[in-house]
Amino acid sequence: MFPINQVLQGDCTRLLRQLPNECVDLIVTDPPYGVRYQDRFGRTVANDDDPSRILGAFTDLYRVLKSDSVCISFYGWGLVDDFFRAWRSAGFRPVGHIVWVKEYASRARFLRYRHEQAFLLAKGRPALPAEPLDDIQPWVYSGNTDHPTQKAVRILTPLIETFSRRGQVVLDPFAGSGSTLVAALITGRRYLGIELEQKYCALARNRLAYLERNPTYPRATVAGIKNEPFHSPPAVALGQLFQWLNEREHYGLARTVQQAMARYGR
Ligand SMILES: C[S@@+](CC[C@H](N)C(=O)[O-])C[C@H]1O[C@@H](n2cnc3c(N)ncnc32)[C@H](O)[C@@H]1O
Repeated sequence: MFPINQVLQGDCTRLLRQLPNECVDLIVTDPPYGVRYQDRFGRTVANDDDPSRILGAFTDLYRVLKSDSVCISFYGWGLVDDFFRAWRSAGFRPVGHIVWVKEYASRARFLRYRHEQAFLLAKGRPALPAEPLDDIQPWVYSGNTDHPTQKAVRILTPLIETFSRRGQVVLDPFAGSGSTLVAALITGRRYLGIELEQKYCALARNRLAYLERNPTYPRATVAGIKNEPFHSPPAVALGQLFQWLNEREHYGLARTVQQAMARYGR
């Protein structure tokens, strides 16, 4: 049977094999980037040290996606060759690329790192959206409160609204804290998540259960960044303040801002 509105715990490279062909309408996912990420609290991301363990998932992702539909996959630019090989050998055709511009640098090496990125990958010939999204989007900092590389729900809702319809099924096989699934729920879609780590799986389930119990609470604040001016969303301002305070080691104040972000939506 096809599980719906659930977060499954386990390795998606194995669990996806159990899903029927062409059962989901949209895939929005954020796999490990292959950068051995570690945040300042020592939190890491499973399989981020060896993405060869997860890239095979795209073969089954192509199979479970309905024809004439899209998969949006974040990726780490340092491993673009490996991601591209996996996407193409699965059958996906790149039809767009989205860059989220950060107001702050998350790191600095040869360059100051001020963007995140995702490819828009097609299976078959999807219809063009009635209202195409800009391929640069404003980044919103999530605060990484629940997960070390948590995506803000507000950057995901425009993707889901543009590339699926209400009632359709959105899949995220690398669900982490469940941000894609939350975005799907608040935009009236059905969802299926898979997450390897038990603690994040539990977190995602709790977030979704909270929303189910409080259907009006965060929807207005987290949905619909699409039509807001590029620099104005309050979450961006709070995210910047959080980053600024952290960089200056005002951890107490940063924590207060982080709590405000959690309270008012991110
Ligand atoms: C970049 S994070 C996703 C974060 C998510 N977008 C969020 O907003 O919280 C990637 C996630 O994939 C999970 N993961 C790694 N390997 C996996 C696998 N084989 N199957 C399922 N999940 C996996 C990791 O535990 C991690 O939570």
